Amino acid sequence: MDYKQYIASKLNCTGLNVDELSSFIEVPPTNELGDFALPCFKLAKILRKSPVAIAEDLKNAFQVDDVISQVSAINGYLNFKVNRTGKTKTLLTEILYKGNLYGSSDIGLNKTVCIDFSSVNIAKPFHIGHLSTTVIGSSLCKIFRFLGYKVVGINHLGDYGTQFGKLIVAFKKWSSVEAVNELRLKELTRIYVKFHDEAELDPSLDDEARRYFKLIEDGDKEANDLFELFKKITLEEVGKIYAQLNVTFDSYAGESFYNDKMQPIVDELSSKGLLKKSEGASIVDLEEYGMPPCLILKADGSSLYATRDLAAAVYRKNTYDFYKCLYVVAYQQNLHFKQFFKVLDLMGKDWANDLVHVAYGMVSLEDGAMSTRHGKVVLLEDVIAKTVEKARSVIESKNPDLPDKDKVAKAVGTGAVIFGALQNNKIKDIVFSIDKVLNFDGETCPYVQYTVARCNSVLERSDNFTFKGNIPEMTSFEYDLVSELGKFSDVVKSSADKYEPSFITRYALDLASAFNKFYINCKIIGSPEDIKVFRLALVKSTKTVLTNALTLLGIETVEKM
Ligand code: ARG
Repeated sequence: MDYKQYIASKLNCTGLNVDELSSFIEVPPTNELGDFALPCFKLAKILRKSPVAIAEDLKNAFQVDDVISQVSAINGYLNFKVNRTGKTKTLLTEILYKGNLYGSSDIGLNKTVCIDFSSVNIAKPFHIGHLSTTVIGSSLCKIFRFLGYKVVGINHLGDYGTQFGKLIVAFKKWSSVEAVNELRLKELTRIYVKFHDEAELDPSLDDEARRYFKLIEDGDKEANDLFELFKKITLEEVGKIYAQLNVTFDSYAGESFYNDKMQPIVDELSSKGLLKKSEGASIVDLEEYGMPPCLILKADGSSLYATRDLAAAVYRKNTYDFYKCLYVVAYQQNLHFKQFFKVLDLMGKDWANDLVHVAYGMVSLEDGAMSTRHGKVVLLEDVIAKTVEKARSVIESKNPDLPDKDKVAKAVGTGAVIFGALQNNKIKDIVFSIDKVLNFDGETCPYVQYTVARCNSVLERSDNFTFKGNIPEMTSFEYDLVSELGKFSDVVKSSADKYEPSFITRYALDLASAFNKFYINCKIIGSPEDIKVFRLALVKSTKTVLTNALTLLGIETVEKM
């Protein structure tokens, strides 16, 4: 039931269509005020009357019925109460029937969304800075899929550039296949750092690195075998983290994939008169748009990050015919995205408007012991391991007899990391604190997971029940919970509209809190049969919706904790 549409269609208001009206309708801050409200000041300009007068007129013309049971005009707001029994019955029936599909939709049918996220760099450590792009991107994949879109999750690997020539030189001088296989990314980082130190003393190393990079490009076997080894090691290492975080990709087409796809772009830019020479380099001038030029080719003819992104965007449009193509990348790259989006626009690609830079803020660590020092990076792997270990010790002290403690600790620890990273509006810089994300009494993932386990334990302790739609007289605790449950579908949709998984974390906390108030104040087992069945239906619905919410974030629930 779309109440907003329903109310809008019943409002006798000339000059505005139902969709417009419905978009003005809000949910008041508390249920006492009503279930929906129309702020009439939004209509004042169109109707040329005061909000108070509009509210009064609309109220007088509104016919209450089985769906909307009450309407009142207060201070320029028109407040509606829905038939709460009817709403509760329909809602709980739907949640219990749809289960893990509750909240899903087919609004995305026949539309494809490409999501470029995580996009790690080969041979570079996977550090805490990659946490946001990885979990935001992965959650957006799940959210869009849930809404019926076809989703292509893309890891646009950083697998191209002179640094790979340096790495080969360093490898040949100071490492071996055995060492790389054993020490993995640590070894690659070690020799890369060593290369830079040594090259300061002996600049000829840089020439050699350039030579090797050229060899990779020219398809030389030895150079490419080494590059493939570095790539394999990196993907194996990050693969472990992806597995822990429930992250998957549909494509690993990285920067080098576009090596043979850039020339047509350069030709097109040139034939459209967009390419200019500047100090030997080829650029697209963006001065008119208040931006520095977009570099397309260096003086030596080699391509740049932007060139590969142009080729990638065109490739994705041709291959997937996307409805939207999202780039989940830190705000430090704002300019880069603005520039290459503009270049595509200037090339006459009308779909350039469908490219979205989903920018997010920086993550730093509060815990000094693990923070970045002397150029040392904080590995994501270590953050997850440390959080899981802490979760394990909290569980040990709170619930020493819990079965499967390791499994629970893993779900709680990784969940806390993911939830913590998704909790704030994504553009905010966040300071990550293990103690904070693991606080069982705070606004955290363990709190939500604990609520699911609590629901589960009630259900386990009670007999099977069949909800037949009987709704007894409700207390405000019960109706507040119902009204939270009823918001889920809209929250999922708006989190997709705004590319904000944080709407879902916020919602999960609100729902858990409404549930816990209900749980503390309303006796379930031992109540008269009809009340008991209704309350059990609330418990089961809460478990379902919280589980669905956490699943969209990539977080597992546990039956006991
Ligand atoms: N590898 C890049 C980095 O670490 C991110 C790539 C983002 N995606 C893109 N299509 N540019 O900064």
